[in-house]
Amino acid sequence: MVLPMGKTFLVTGCAGLIGSHLCERLLAAGDRVVGIDNFNDYYDVRQKQANAAVLRSLEGFTLIEADIRDAEGVNEVVAAHHPVAIAHLAALANVRYAVGRTPLYNQVNVTGTINVLEAARTLGCPHVVFASTSSVYGNTDRLPFVEDDPCDRPLSAYPATKRAGELLGHTYHHLHGMTFTGLRFFSVYGPRARPDMMPFMVTDRIARGEPIALFNAGQMKRDWTFVDDIAAGVEAALREPLGYELINLGRGEPVLMADFVKLLEDRIGRSAVIETPPAPASEPITTYANTDKARRLLGYQPQTSLAEGLDALWAWYQNRPDSTA
Ligand SMILES: NC(=O)c1ccc[n+]([C@@H]2O[C@H](COP(=O)([O-])OP(=O)(O)OC[C@H]3O[C@@H](n4cnc5c(N)ncnc54)[C@H](O)[C@@H]3O)[C@@H](O)[C@H]2O)c1
Repeated sequence: MVLPMGKTFLVTGCAGLIGSHLCERLLAAGDRVVGIDNFNDYYDVRQKQANAAVLRSLEGFTLIEADIRDAEGVNEVVAAHHPVAIAHLAALANVRYAVGRTPLYNQVNVTGTINVLEAARTLGCPHVVFASTSSVYGNTDRLPFVEDDPCDRPLSAYPATKRAGELLGHTYHHLHGMTFTGLRFFSVYGPRARPDMMPFMVTDRIARGEPIALFNAGQMKRDWTFVDDIAAGVEAALREPLGYELINLGRGEPVLMADFVKLLEDRIGRSAVIETPPAPASEPITTYANTDKARRLLGYQPQTSLAEGLDALWAWYQNRPDSTA
C-alpha cells in the first residue's frame, strides 16, 4: 500500500537538521505537516528557531512546541491532527555526549519513543518511521554494514537507546499490527548542520583559525550522507509502509577524515590547525553502509557527492542566521 499525497504527517524533531529538511520536502509535495519540537538548548536554539521560521512561512505547516517526554502532550497532538504516519526524529544524538548521561538518554530516546508509539497505537496512527543510527553497529570488522549484522555491542548509551527504539518498534508491530520502519542514518551533513557534529565544527574552526581535533590523525572513516538524500529516504519510508523493517540510509562511500578535512580546507581557502588525540572509546573506526536494501525497498538513490554537499554546507555556513554571533 502506498500512502496518497495530501495527507497529514507528524514530524517530531521538526526544527532540527533532518526534521526541517524533511518537513520542507513533504510540504513541497502538497502534504500537511504537524511538527513537534521542544527547542532544547543542546545546541544553539537560534539555529533551531531559524529552521522553524522557514517552516512556519510555508503553507500547510503547524508547529507545536512540545516535549516527547510528556505523554499527554504527544497524545493531544496526535488526537487533534490524525496523522497518517509519524516520522519520529526527536532525540538526543551524539555518541560522546551520551557518556555519563544514560538516564537523560533513556528519558528522551526510550521513554519519548514509547510515548510516540503509544500515541500512535491508542489513537489509530498505523505507521511510524523511526530515526535510528549507524552507531548501532558499534566497532565491527564486517564491512560494509548490513542490516542483519549483530547490533548488540553498543559503544555508548546513544546507540543503546536507539537500538531499544528499533526493538520496541518490533513489539508494536508484532502485538498491535502497526507498521514500523527504522532507518539507520549514516553521518548526515549539509545546510543547517548541527554545531556538535564534525562538518560544522571543522568548518567553523578552520574559518576562525582555531585548532581542530582529528582523532587517530584522521585515519578514521565516515560514510557522509547529504541531508537532502536522507530526507528523500525518510519521505519514501513514510509513504511506503513495509511491515517491520530496519534499513540503512547512507551513501556507501566511506571517506577518510583526513580527506574530509582537506576538502573543507579547499573550500574555505585556509589550512586547518590540526591536533591529533586518540579516538575516544565511544567512536567506531569506520562506518560504511550497504544501501542495497534501501535501494530495493525504498527506491533510495543518493544524489549528492561529498564535494557537492560540502559546497552547499560552506555556502550555508557563510550566510547562516547566527553568523555574526
Ligand atoms: N545527523 C546525523 O548524522 C544522524 C545520524 C544518525 C541518526 N540521527 C538521528 O536522526 C534524528 C534527527 O537528527 P538531527 O541530526 O536532525 O538532530 P537535531 O538535534 O538537529 O534534531 C533533533 C530535534 O529534536 C528536538 N528534540 C530533542 N529532544 C526533544 C524532546 N524531548 N521533545 C521534543 N523535541 C526534542 C531537538 O530540539 C532538535 O530540534 C535523531 O533522532 C538522531 O538521533 C542523526
